[in-house]
Amino acid sequence: MILQRRNRILRINPAIRAMVAETVLTPNDFIVPLFIDEGENISTEIASMPDYYRRSIDLTVKEVKELWSLGIKSVLLFIKCKDELKDNTGKESWNKNGLMQRSIRAIKDAVPEMYVMTDVALDPFSSYGHDGIVKDGEILNDETVEALVKMSVSHAESGADMVAPSDMMDGRIGAIREGLEQHNFTKTGIMAYSAKYASCFYGPFRDALDSAPGFGDKKTYQMDYSNRTEAVKEALMDVEEGADIVMVKPGLPYLDIVRDLKNTVDIPVSVYNISGEYAMIKAAAQRGWIDENKAILETLTSMKRAGADLIATYFAKDAAMLLNG
Ligand code: PBG
Repeated sequence: MILQRRNRILRINPAIRAMVAETVLTPNDFIVPLFIDEGENISTEIASMPDYYRRSIDLTVKEVKELWSLGIKSVLLFIKCKDELKDNTGKESWNKNGLMQRSIRAIKDAVPEMYVMTDVALDPFSSYGHDGIVKDGEILNDETVEALVKMSVSHAESGADMVAPSDMMDGRIGAIREGLEQHNFTKTGIMAYSAKYASCFYGPFRDALDSAPGFGDKKTYQMDYSNRTEAVKEALMDVEEGADIVMVKPGLPYLDIVRDLKNTVDIPVSVYNISGEYAMIKAAAQRGWIDENKAILETLTSMKRAGADLIATYFAKDAAMLLNG
């Protein structure tokens, strides 16, 4: 055959493939979600997330040091609230000496350079396991937003660099920005979970934090997975209200949404490679059905290729080690 153009020339060996690679993953791309528990010297493996742990503050600090040494720049904190502190107001979430607040201080003390993000949502603190205050079986919007503002200000006071509201209440980004400004937290950012879908893939996470909804589901606030245009609307509103980063969640089944946002907004887009996606890869790898390390790098690269500037992922440490060689 005499061909005008042979596409395989650019794939012929590793050198040329590396030279023309359009997407290059680095540890700078990762945000590491961390689950934190009360106590000391505690490390509990999450049943539905093999090799992933919920740790007490002391062991979390140790882990953060290790992550920093691997070139990872950011962690995203989640805490497991004790049952007796849960109620329908979420007031434990703005307790100055709450587990979250103590965790932020301990991490910032030990590794000040690590960029600390915090989850802002009521579900770990809610006796109903919902992301909002409940009345007559309904999740109240405006009352919940007031609680989220107090929580955000309290995280900022403790030293958080960026708060990450994952609740999907209307108007919370603007309200949180205003609350931070009023308290002079002009350096604290907001990563908005703008397009967060009501997903079955959150199951393992809810095991980790014991935060499954006690009644009903989250469909009156999290998005319907049939929708795409609506994600653009959500993201544009969050940008207008002052978000510094917008996020899409879950990740893998929603890469079309990541690309939509990347093409629409003029701020960084992040994606959350969530617990169920982690569990699927782990389960298949444990059975010897896929190669875990290859699956990790292919998955994370596809997220970046889709348009994600940042990826929150339970595979961050594994991926950083693989990338560092
Ligand atoms: C709740 C929250 C959830 C996750 C992060 N924040 C679960 C939910 O909305 O029920 C899920 C993360 C994951 O599955 O990895 N505010």
